[in-house]
Amino acid sequence: MRPGNHTIDEQRQGEAVGPRSGTEGGRKLYLESYGCQMNFSDSEIVASILGEAGFTTTQQQEEADLILLNTCSIRDNAEQRIRHRLQHLKGGKRKNPKLKVGILGCMAERLRDQLLEEEKLVDLVVGPDAYRDLPRLVEEVEGGQKAVNTLLSREETYAEIQPVRLDDKGVTGFISIMRGCDNMCSFCVVPFTRGRERSRDPKSIVAEALDLYNKGYREVTLLGQNVDSYKWNVDAKGNVKDADEPVVRFAQLMDLVSDVNPDLRVRFSTSHPKDMTDEVLEVMARKDNLCKYIHLPVQSGDSGVLKRMNRGYTREWYLNRIAAIRRIMPDCAISTDVISGFCGETLEEHEATLSLMKEVRYEMAYMFKYSERPRTLAERKFEDDVPEEEKGRRLAEVIDLQRVHSRERMAAQCGPVYRILVEGPSKKDSEEYQGRNTYNGVVVFPKGDAQIGEYVYVQTTKCMAVTLRGELISEQEAQEVGYIA
Ligand code: 5AD
Ligand code: SF4
Repeated sequence: MRPGNHTIDEQRQGEAVGPRSGTEGGRKLYLESYGCQMNFSDSEIVASILGEAGFTTTQQQEEADLILLNTCSIRDNAEQRIRHRLQHLKGGKRKNPKLKVGILGCMAERLRDQLLEEEKLVDLVVGPDAYRDLPRLVEEVEGGQKAVNTLLSREETYAEIQPVRLDDKGVTGFISIMRGCDNMCSFCVVPFTRGRERSRDPKSIVAEALDLYNKGYREVTLLGQNVDSYKWNVDAKGNVKDADEPVVRFAQLMDLVSDVNPDLRVRFSTSHPKDMTDEVLEVMARKDNLCKYIHLPVQSGDSGVLKRMNRGYTREWYLNRIAAIRRIMPDCAISTDVISGFCGETLEEHEATLSLMKEVRYEMAYMFKYSERPRTLAERKFEDDVPEEEKGRRLAEVIDLQRVHSRERMAAQCGPVYRILVEGPSKKDSEEYQGRNTYNGVVVFPKGDAQIGEYVYVQTTKCMAVTLRGELISEQEAQEVGYIA
């Protein structure tokens, strides 16, 4: 699965991040991230804060003085996976009694002291808004105590912290533009673990994008739980932050970031159907470096289920948003998230999800069985009454249908010449490179004299199950035959 996806534990499970080895001397930090892109982005902030405190990151777990797991709570199986991982770390602590182990992120926030009680090897528990406190907490832990900080903040955006980029290719990077979520979807634990929504100063976002560009990066992904409600100058309570500055919403922010350089591609995640405006779509349509790809989670195709989910839109509203995308950007790729077996979901309601999928024909989808989460609205209000086996059966139907649509969409992308950003060697054959087209489709091609981090032109010739194959052509040839930017 390609990196840099949405809030999905299934995609990115416990990747160790950081350069192959730290510089000599100093203490060594082994940082492992689970779950969403936001967590991977947060880990880069953690590496920066602890870097200031004298830590260097390592990919060798054995040489670490401190192991931190940046965790995910979105579904129960995400948490179980991390519990298993903790069991494995016990051996490491036996071999090196000085080793300290900490839990960051959503599980830290959700379970707090309970984690220290249940998992004896855990020394440190730090929630997503408390990373600035890490140097002090680590000191406490090194002094032999256990340390916890899970305070959530209404202001923290880590705006001026320069993330230490942990992806060693240096081509694509994440930029967090906001934190938290105010939506209160009834199934979702995020508002409890990541707190209230707050947006980050656009100047610091643009500065970060420019810095990445100057360092050779050619793609940034703007991250937020609900990017469409990005808003600067007016805070969540409606107070004006800085009277002489205009309000910057997501559409204007995208305009600003895309102006950093025409050769810097801009992607974003995640949009919310209830808030996605035509204005955003129009900005996307105007600029080639704003990639023609939208992740628009639907969750269910039935208005009754959507109401129970507290999603704030109906099936009709959602389909109207899809129609707006198709009207403004007829070629835009669209992906989604689907939950199967939500509380009270009838067979008819499940069928409505399948029929919506047939109407939209998504390029791609992340699909899950409903997993009840403590403290959520759904846990308090509804019964988790679809049997596990039935959830599995419905999910399998959703997955099978999506497979058909993904193939169909991939085949439709085959044929044109694309401008591709070279990201690195292909996963299957190191003699080939891979990159993505504007639609986020992966394109594989023989290396030729292409370089990682450069744009190339690829004539697509063949459609595989989940990728396109093609041949390099020159810029001049591409201009002659026409290409998709
Ligand atoms: N059970 C199953 N899936 C969930 N998601 C969020 N919470 C749950 C849950 N309790 C899915 C949604 C969301 C994605 C990030 O994870 O589809 O869009
Ligand atoms: Fe959860 Fe809904 Fe917020 Fe997404 S928008 S993080 S699903 S509450």
